[in-house]
Amino acid sequence: KKIIIINGPNLNLLGSREPDVYGSLTLVEFLDAIKSKYPKLEIDHFQSNIEGELISKIQEMGFSYDGIILNAAAYTHTSVGIGDAVRAIKTPVVEVHISNTFAREDFRHQSFIAPHTKGVIVGFGLQSYELAIQSFLNDEI
Ligand code: DQA
Repeated sequence: KKIIIINGPNLNLLGSREPDVYGSLTLVEFLDAIKSKYPKLEIDHFQSNIEGELISKIQEMGFSYDGIILNAAAYTHTSVGIGDAVRAIKTPVVEVHISNTFAREDFRHQSFIAPHTKGVIVGFGLQSYELAIQSFLNDEI
């Protein structure tokens, strides 16, 4: 199965950005670990700080990949455009968040993406991504 993890703004700073909230592993360390743990899956990754680039990547992968794991970061709470892109494609999308957004500021409680996804995994640290991967493994289709 082909899966892509798409990460939004500031997630390139994982490991150094607010480690108490987001952990101390860097994105590269985390991706290496997850790829070696699931060798049968093809796990790609894309990160951008730019909203339009995220939309273009969702469109590009959204008709051929088996799953998209999307952490749109702050755009989750602002972007009608990313929500529309998720709605427009065929590939199922699982939304993930590292932190428990519901335990944080009110503006993080709303997602413009969640209504168009297969499901949402929130608050399990980097393990949120792994739980999303497992949701595709268990998918019998
Ligand atoms: C985040 C939560 C968002 O509210 C925040 O803007 C992020 C990261 C998370 O993974 O916890 O940048 O998506």
